[in-house]
Amino acid sequence: MAPSAHRAPRDPNSPVATFSHARLAFGSRVLWEDLNLTISPGEFVAVLGPNGSGKTSFLRCLLGQYGLDAGQLEVTDAIGYIPQQHADDSDPMAMRGRDLVGFGVDGARWGIGLRGRGRRRQLVDAALAEVGATAYADAPMGLLSGGEQQRLRVAQSLTSDPALLLCDEPLSSLDPTNQHRVVELIDERRRSANTAIVFVTHEINPILPYVDRVLYLVGGRFRIGTPDEVMTTATLSNLYGSDVEVLRVNGRLVVIGGEDGHHCEEHADPPVFPAAAVDPSPVVNAERDPRA
Ligand SMILES: Nc1ncnc2c1ncn2[C@@H]1O[C@H](COP(=O)(O)OP(=O)(O)O)[C@@H](O)[C@H]1O
Ligand SMILES: [Mg+2]
Repeated sequence: MAPSAHRAPRDPNSPVATFSHARLAFGSRVLWEDLNLTISPGEFVAVLGPNGSGKTSFLRCLLGQYGLDAGQLEVTDAIGYIPQQHADDSDPMAMRGRDLVGFGVDGARWGIGLRGRGRRRQLVDAALAEVGATAYADAPMGLLSGGEQQRLRVAQSLTSDPALLLCDEPLSSLDPTNQHRVVELIDERRRSANTAIVFVTHEINPILPYVDRVLYLVGGRFRIGTPDEVMTTATLSNLYGSDVEVLRVNGRLVVIGGEDGHHCEEHADPPVFPAAAVDPSPVVNAERDPRA
């Protein structure tokens, strides 16, 4: 792979990221090629696509962890990151929320210096306050709800004062009410600091009201556009190379037939929140292969 992305210092008037004729492949497996995308300050970009289509790899390119095989990427050096959640070995009863957020400060700033401890504490307190997590910051992580834990992970990502915030499926383990709260929190950061958001998700409905543009990845191909442009029967059928139907029901999108199946719920009730009727429906559609 080519060297990692070129990093540009923060400039409120410049794009936070620009992909030019970008290509990423692993061996013969091409995730995308000739990708041109400019992300502006304050823009909310959703990255959608089936499992294995390259959503996390797209974030890793922005982080400089993966280099492009061809083309260029210019990206701000002020990046916050909420990684995809995996089970890990750390003892949830031994770590407080405040500790988790502190790791963000340590990772973002090398050698915090002589006045380091006071400054570190200030940064942690500010991030905790920004997400409204001060009240439970000293409790063990293991005693907190999923929503509270995710709030702390958002706080951790904000300690670097990011111009670009990368979120990898941050809603996947949350109930609809907490999904709504976490999305609101991230969007609040976008509005208050003009932070651009790149939000990976396999379920667009919880974020649909906030999304400016969609990058939809499928099997080495992609589409970029507004949700109205990309989330249509014609565009997705073309992208998947098979029949996909997009329905709009009570302001929500229901995608039938895409691999992963964004949704296949039978809810008739109008949702309380945009996220309220989310049904991950892992069984029915997860096995469906549009190429079959
Ligand atoms: N470091 C790597 N080396 C080889 N293959 C990789 C690497 N990272 C990702 N891939 C492959 O790239 C594809 C996309 O992975 P990923 O970006 O994690 O997909 P997604 O997040 O959309 O599920 C997968 O087939 C994965 O196995
Ligand atoms: Mg992923």
